[in-house]
Amino acid sequence: MRRLAVATLDGNWEHDHTVPSRTLYPHQWSWDSAFIAIGLATARPDRAWRELRTLLAAQWADGRVPHIVFNPAPPIGSYFPGPGFWDSARAPGAPAAATSGIVQPPVHALAAWLAYRRTPSERSRTELAWLYPRLVAQQRYLTGRRDVGGAGLACLVHPWESGLDNSPAWDPPLATVPADEAVLRAYRRHDTAHADAAQRPTDLDYARYVALVDAYRAGRYGDDGLAGRHPFLVECPLFNTALGLAEHALAAIARAVGADPGPHRERAARITATLVDRLYDPATGAFHPRDLRTGRLVPARTALGLVPLALPDLPPRQVATVLAEACSPRFGLAARMDRPLPSHDRTAPDFEPLRYWRGPSWLNLDWLLWRGLRTHHRLDLAAGLRASMVELVATAGCHEYFHPDTGAGLGSPAFGWTAALLLDVLA
Ligand code: DGY
Repeated sequence: MRRLAVATLDGNWEHDHTVPSRTLYPHQWSWDSAFIAIGLATARPDRAWRELRTLLAAQWADGRVPHIVFNPAPPIGSYFPGPGFWDSARAPGAPAAATSGIVQPPVHALAAWLAYRRTPSERSRTELAWLYPRLVAQQRYLTGRRDVGGAGLACLVHPWESGLDNSPAWDPPLATVPADEAVLRAYRRHDTAHADAAQRPTDLDYARYVALVDAYRAGRYGDDGLAGRHPFLVECPLFNTALGLAEHALAAIARAVGADPGPHRERAARITATLVDRLYDPATGAFHPRDLRTGRLVPARTALGLVPLALPDLPPRQVATVLAEACSPRFGLAARMDRPLPSHDRTAPDFEPLRYWRGPSWLNLDWLLWRGLRTHHRLDLAAGLRASMVELVATAGCHEYFHPDTGAGLGSPAFGWTAALLLDVLA
């Protein structure tokens, strides 16, 4: 399996970064690159650092790390929405490379720290020192300009920023976004040429995705006054967990590069406390996104609500109730799992076992929870989840996602982060 995973990463390597998939995603994606670097560190350490360096070299002047860095000549397919659609060149502070204008969960500081721990050489320390101020600027952007709610959490302006594009968590906030499917017909989706349309977001979803990019791009990706003008504004538990994990990782990185870890520790504690205060629902015992346009928590019980378990300073009460939710029939976490962990409550009426983030099992969600279980000393459950991850790849290969009942492979068959995170759990 290790050989298959390394061959998958080698096959997706493209000069100075890894494409998530040669067909579906033929450019560099932000959070994919972080997960991929974690796996590369176990097998191709030089490439792990190169991966992160290439991504952070495309950081904008305001500190945002774009969710896509476009290859000038994509390895195989075309991708929609491509560089012309994003038109980053006209935005103030954008880098020379063509990029998107939105962000993704900031898992990069954690990736850099884990890569360093795997290969703690002088070369690695130099790379870490290069990354450190850039990772700090990324946090500053997310907790500064993107703190639309004013409480210290980052706010998302597009479901693509969550990484869980069509999660049922986004249905209520998306419902009020004007969707003109005629506009979409002016473009051509390429994803459905490479993957079964039944396993991808719908055309209606895409019409809204396009409308949201249109709205953000019209303001040249500026964040001033978003509260009064932008149609989609949410605080996401996974994204903000990543934000907190980043401060914990930055504290460790600061120590390694001779900087002061204190401010990072303080910020980490503040993010966890705010997450609990704003996104925890005692009625469900889990975390939920907050829709800033209505002020309400989104009721759907998705895997997003379990991810704060990855925070080492999550208070014991939340650890206990999130574990109860994870071990309930909704998600089926167990020391011996009989089915993979789903991305959405499998008892919900809108659970869809084939469709992208509306049910299928994903290795990055498994991996984040697996780390949380180990952090909170639930080694029995961590072992069960790890065994499930290994079995998925052993049976189906390095697929992008997996059927949450049968484990059959779905989406892209040679997916970067599946290979990378498997390497990490095997190491
Ligand atoms: C896609 O193209 O499906 C991506 O998730 C958007 O970033």
